[in-house]
Amino acid sequence: PFPLYDELRETGDGVHYSSLLQSHFVTRYADVRRIATDFRTFSSDLFDVTPAGMHDAGDAEHRRFAEIAGRLFMFADPPVHTRIRSTFRAAFTPEAVERWRPAVLDATTALLDEFEPGTEVDLMPRLAADVPVAVIASILGVPREAWGHFRTWSFAYASTFDPMVQGARRDEAIRTSLALFDFLADLAAQRRARPAGDLISTIVHTRTDDGDVLGEVELIAQLALLLVAGNETTTNLIGNGSTLLLDNPGARAEITADPALLPDAIEEMLRIDPPLHLTIRLLTKDATVGGQRLPAGSLVSPCIAAANRDPRVFPDAGRFDLHRGENGKHLAFLHGIHFCVGAALARLEGQVVFEEMLRRHPGFHAGTEPAVRRTLNSVSRGWEKRPVVL
Ligand code: HEM
Repeated sequence: PFPLYDELRETGDGVHYSSLLQSHFVTRYADVRRIATDFRTFSSDLFDVTPAGMHDAGDAEHRRFAEIAGRLFMFADPPVHTRIRSTFRAAFTPEAVERWRPAVLDATTALLDEFEPGTEVDLMPRLAADVPVAVIASILGVPREAWGHFRTWSFAYASTFDPMVQGARRDEAIRTSLALFDFLADLAAQRRARPAGDLISTIVHTRTDDGDVLGEVELIAQLALLLVAGNETTTNLIGNGSTLLLDNPGARAEITADPALLPDAIEEMLRIDPPLHLTIRLLTKDATVGGQRLPAGSLVSPCIAAANRDPRVFPDAGRFDLHRGENGKHLAFLHGIHFCVGAALARLEGQVVFEEMLRRHPGFHAGTEPAVRRTLNSVSRGWEKRPVVL
């Protein structure tokens, strides 16, 4: 349960100023959805106010980092957003993503083959953290011998968005991110010269809707975005979803008996314990949110996790219910023009991981070591340790 979100949703029209976030925290489903829909009033062009955007302009490495990272289309409005996003459209449809099922299955079985029945394993480092990195590396076309580096680089880049990473740690994360950018630039140059049937080859040759291919810096920024956007989120889907299966034996027995329920189970996992709790938007003009008049220039933080448990939309919202069907329309991937590009891939990863886990270890249960929550930041929610006995 999220008692604080419940309280915030039911008081002050569900909108509260947070001095910590310097932003208006928005908790009701209808308001979160409207903010996501009305992209003209609620802009995403705000890289400069994210931790990654707060760079030291006197430092050449920081400047180069910001020049590339600042081009992420997630932090852009139309027309820039539309043009860049159009290069990803075809590659990430649910039908197109199906062709990556073997890669997802390979990554999952390689990890699960290491698990001995009867032993205790911590699912976070041994499964949840590795599947998304292995999958994206294999889809992009990163050579296998570089996967180890690729993982370290991806984590370093993700940490530049973490407000807790400061000083020397931040400098180091920025330097490592530059190594990642150089690596992606080299790989893109190779694929431009000789396509290899992987995602980088597709993207370097795909024309945007104004008929051009992406420029060099723009391209590197988006490839790196696929890593940060897809890693920790999918890791948390696996960790949070496993926890829900442990805590809801009835639902789990149903899924084990009828694996066709798994896609609904994944939607319910995403609704009730979403990997990303918060996002952020900047008001381009004065607007009313939840009855409160907010001036242009204000920041709002739509809280996905609070919206996903709004009883106005989800009856008995705290219950893990496999049978919500169309009534289970959660906002874990948000809504509107910034709806998660990787949603179909994340769903596929969840399906393959839980299907294999339940097939191989149908009786897995909580381990003797305690599970430990991650408390890294206020944006994403997941587990540091999730020990289970197989
Ligand atoms: C955007 C959630 C997995 C790539 C988003 C947004 C959310 C989200 C909420 C909207 C952010 C905003 O506009 O403020 C998730 C969750 C995931 C997941 C919960 C896993 C369970 C992935 C994966 C990839 C990915 C696997 C790619 C491989 C992206 C990209 C965007 C995005 C590129 C930016 C889209 C845009 O701005 O138009 N994601 N994501 N995500 N996600 Fe995901």
